[in-house]
Formats: sequence, structure tokens, C-alpha cells
Amino acid sequence: MMANRPIRYQIHIRPLFSAMDREHMSFFIDLWDTSAFYTADGKPKMDIINKIYNHVGPGGDMPPVTHGGLWPQEWQNLYKRWIDEGCQKLELGKGTYSARRLGDVLLSAQDVTVPEGSQLWLERDNACAADYTYNLYIEAPINPTGKTEIKSTTEDVGEVPDNIKTIVILSSDGPQTVTIT
Ligand code: HEM
Repeated sequence: MMANRPIRYQIHIRPLFSAMDREHMSFFIDLWDTSAFYTADGKPKMDIINKIYNHVGPGGDMPPVTHGGLWPQEWQNLYKRWIDEGCQKLELGKGTYSARRLGDVLLSAQDVTVPEGSQLWLERDNACAADYTYNLYIEAPINPTGKTEIKSTTEDVGEVPDNIKTIVILSSDGPQTVTIT
């Protein structure tokens, strides 16, 4: 049987926060922002993470009943499992990039060094935003077979308005601006 996939902030936790949750809780933190949950060196901010669990977990009061109401138990369990597994997240990769307009835009990341067996993909950071910023996500294998690193490639084709001339890729070496050619 396949091992259970670890819970990761960007895949499993962030989607539990609605746009309304995000808007109303902006006085506290940006629920959609990875850096609200992790320090610059990637450690989980346990004070914030536990505080949220106190509000959304059993006996909690968030989201308020007047605004969509409390989480179902399976969401509470999922959040708790995330904590128990060490609050894991996806990592960012680093590569060489290109963006080509062929009607839609073909975005490509090449020469990305990843642990063998990783999944790699480009994902828009916030589909509600006016800019086009993508994460170069790496999901490490569940059971690494060794420490072998390989070079990998990923592509994404997306609809990008004609007035957008550049794309930003969030990489492990910071945001990289790529001109659409
Ligand atoms: C899953 C979604 C939500 C989470 C994780 C969440 C989390 C929290 C947390 C951790 C606090 C305490 C903040 C602090 O100690 O400074 C808080 C307070 C608060 N939240 Fe939320 N919240 C959510 C949704 C909402 C929504 C939709 C509203 C809409 C009105 C809202 C309104 C408030 C208000 C007004 C407070 C301050 C309450 C007080 O100080 O008595 N929250 N929330």
C-alpha cells in the first residue's frame, strides 16, 4: 500500500482558509502567505500555528458562525495531523526559466536540481492577484531511496492577459522576473 502522503501547508492547509477568512483575519496574519507560518529559515512559527488550532480546533470559535461557521471535524483532524507531522511545507526549487506566448503562455523551468523521486511543478501563487507570480514547488519523495539529486524540468501552459509582459517565479534564490517572449 502506498504510504500516506504528508500534510503540507500549501497543498492541504492553505485551501482550508477562504478568501473571506483571509480578508477578515488580515489584522492578525495573511492566512495565504507561507511566510506568516514559517520563519525566513523555514522553521514553523509554532506560536501562530497553535494559536490558530485553539480557535479552529475542538471548542474553538473560528470562523465565526456569522461568517460560514466552524470547521468540520475532518478539517480539524487534518490541521492537527499537519502539526503532529511537524508542519511540513513544499520547498521552492531553482532553475533557468522561459516564458513564451503561443496564444496561451508556455512557462518552463529547466535544470532544476531535486532529490530523485520528487514531484516538481509551477503553480500560480494567488489566482485572485492582478500579477502573474508562480511558485516553483518541489515535493520531496515520501520514502527517499538515497541522497541522489537529479536535474529535472517542468512546464505549465496558462492563459495570461496580453497586457502582462513579465512573469515572476518564486524560487529558492528569491523572486525571478521572466520576460514573456
Ligand atoms: C479559518 C479561518 C479563521 C481563522 C484561522 C481565524 C483565526 C483567528 C485567531 C487565531 C484569532 C486570535 C487573533 C489574536 O490573538 O490576535 C482570531 C480573532 C478574530 N477573528 Fe478570526 N479566524 C478565522 C476566520 C474569521 C472570520 C471569517 C472572521 C469574520 C468576522 C473573523 C474575525 C475575527 C475577529 C473579529 C477576531 C478578534 C476577536 C477578539 O479579539 O475577540 N475570523 N481569529
